[in-house]
Amino acid sequence: MKPTIGYCLVKLHDNPELIDGCALLLNKQWQRSLTSRLHSLNKSCDDFPLSLVLINNNKTDYQILGHIRVKREPLVNNRHTVFIESLIVDECVRGQGFGKYIMLETERLVKQMGFLTITLTTTDKQEFYRHLGYREVNLSVDCNQMSCRPMSSILSAESPQMPTPPPPPVPPPMPSINKSNNLVKVLMLKNI
Ligand SMILES: CC(C)(COP(=O)(O)OP(=O)(O)OC[C@H]1O[C@@H](n2cnc3c(N)ncnc32)[C@H](O)[C@@H]1OP(=O)(O)O)[C@@H](O)C(=O)NCCC(=O)NCCS
Repeated sequence: MKPTIGYCLVKLHDNPELIDGCALLLNKQWQRSLTSRLHSLNKSCDDFPLSLVLINNNKTDYQILGHIRVKREPLVNNRHTVFIESLIVDECVRGQGFGKYIMLETERLVKQMGFLTITLTTTDKQEFYRHLGYREVNLSVDCNQMSCRPMSSILSAESPQMPTPPPPPVPPPMPSINKSNNLVKVLMLKNI
């Protein structure tokens, strides 16, 4: 995925000259120390975490339009599933289809790599992801009762290509509460 002319999604570790620009883009949205931001971006590799950058490339210059970071599913050691840790499109080019483009290209790439399922969490972009075919699933993390339905059971029940026992009745989606800032985090999933 080396850059060609036009819009393209490139791997950050193949294009290290993009790291500083990505750090600034991410820090515009989610403030964090530049050192720790650069540290985590520098970890990008083919074997995850994988950072992909959307650039608008011409012969002499390029513009960073967006970034996505994909990890192994953190809640379970599932070799079929990846987790989208973050997605961002530069504020000045939002609403032009770039977020959708990044998501669809990322899905194509991870599918090529042999993955079957993508998960992510969001506090306020459910509509955007629903539009792309993601649906809410029941993580059932109740911080007050400290009970948690294992992620593995969700994935084995959700993924069509794995052997599945007869599914139990599915309770309605129940978001987890992040006590530190009271935002409701919703887990979403798509089989690709
Ligand atoms: C969320 C984000 C990545 C969307 O990127 P974008 O480039 O503006 O979105 P797109 O233009 O590709 O939109 C694709 C489709 O989703 C819809 N959409 C976009 N944002 C939406 C939203 N917040 N709610 C509902 N629908 C939305 C668009 O209308 C469009 O629909 P269409 O395909 O029918 O035309 C971008 O707004 C962003 O970077 N936000 C800040 C960071 C963030 O919140 N990231 C997500 C963390 S979970």
